[in-house]
Amino acid sequence: SFPLHGRYKRQTSRPPYSIDLEQDETYIPPGETLKDLIEHSRSAGSGSGSGLPLLVQRTIAKQIQMVKQIGKGRYGEVWMGRWRGERVAVKVFFTTEEESWFRETEIYQTFLMRHDNILGFIAADIKGTGSWTQLYLITDYHENGSLYDYLKSNTLDVSALLKLAYSSISGLCHLHTEIYGTQGKPAIAHRDLKSKNILVKKNGFCCIADLGLAVKFNSDTNEVDIPPNLRVGTKRYMPPEVLDEALNTSTFQSFIMADMYSFGLILWEVVRRCTSGGVVEEHQLPYHDLVPTDPSYEDMREVVCIKKQRPSIANHWSSDECLRQMGKLMSECWAHNPACRLTALRVKKTLAKMLESQDIKL
Ligand SMILES: Nc1ncnc2c1ncn2[C@@H]1O[C@H](COP(=O)(O)OP(=O)(O)OP(=O)(O)O)[C@@H](O)[C@H]1O
Ligand SMILES: *[C@@H]1O[C@H](CO)[C@@H](O)[C@H](O)[C@H]1NC(C)=O
Ligand SMILES: *[C@@H]1O[C@H](CO)[C@@H](O)[C@H](O)[C@H]1NC(C)=O
Ligand SMILES: [Mg+2]
Repeated sequence: SFPLHGRYKRQTSRPPYSIDLEQDETYIPPGETLKDLIEHSRSAGSGSGSGLPLLVQRTIAKQIQMVKQIGKGRYGEVWMGRWRGERVAVKVFFTTEEESWFRETEIYQTFLMRHDNILGFIAADIKGTGSWTQLYLITDYHENGSLYDYLKSNTLDVSALLKLAYSSISGLCHLHTEIYGTQGKPAIAHRDLKSKNILVKKNGFCCIADLGLAVKFNSDTNEVDIPPNLRVGTKRYMPPEVLDEALNTSTFQSFIMADMYSFGLILWEVVRRCTSGGVVEEHQLPYHDLVPTDPSYEDMREVVCIKKQRPSIANHWSSDECLRQMGKLMSECWAHNPACRLTALRVKKTLAKMLESQDIKL
């Protein structure tokens, strides 16, 4: 079902939803914050998935002022915008990326998706008429930017490291977990995990973003629901079975184990930035020393599948108990054989123990 304009049937020839663009706005009383609106709609249980009512989404989208562009990706641009003084992030999709927009909107509005460690969805909308359409996705804005941006300009202590790692795996674990029942949640695999698709919140915890490639799985129907878009993940973070085109797409668990490989690489990026015994490494992308910028499939396949190389574990990590355990953890995530990789729940439990032993309160 179409998440925003449910009464329209999707057609492949021509998107039908421009018909309704002149629909009225709804009145949102002054003083209401986005948080109030979302919490109210959650407690009122207003039906359709877990988002705000569609007309409220549209109204918010219309009232946003675009302030400045903060990023540009393969599917479009990200802007910082304002709604009645509150900052929001606005992802504007290229018209050609309609499938990505549709998918991401649908996933965010899946029942029980809201979680502290998944980017907070506010609204989605389409503007324009006829052949000219603009697709918007409005979410929480995080001024500290992506984990990639954050690691470039910040070094970490053990506490900061564990907070970033634990919150990221908590988000991934929620995504991966199926919740059973009529009011349940399907299991979801991300398929494009990387440090640029994780955001850092003000409090030092992370949330997972960029769900345009996600796949869902429902154990009732045993169906793997793969998005129809052509966009594939990011080559640098692709596991060997994806590079080798050996991943069995009819088995959902394959996508889950592919995510865990990418998570292992992210863990490596984070751990490098932790100061230990006065030593810290500069931020680098995984395989920075083995493949060129913007590597090809062949470049990646050569290193990851044929030579079976992995990012190097620094010698000095072994002299710090926390970093040593982290090195072990990431190796168990990026194992060549998908069946040998740790699950998100296992990693989460291990990191929870490490937090506890460091006496860090969540
Ligand atoms: N909600 C947000 N709050 C703050 N900054 C954001 C938000 N979403 C994205 N950004 C910033 O915008 C940048 C661009 O994100 P985007 O997802 O468009 O591109 P990318 O992840 O770098 O590339 P791609 O997803 O195309 O591979 C991010 O790296 C981040 O710095
Ligand atoms: C995020 O940025 C703000 C403003 O620069 C800063 O006050 C805050 O400490 C940062 N948060 C983290 C986790 O570094
Ligand atoms: C993929 O998995 C399905 C379901 O487990 C199985 O029937 C099929 O044979 C597998 N395909 C390959 C190529 O391994
Ligand atoms: Mg991205």
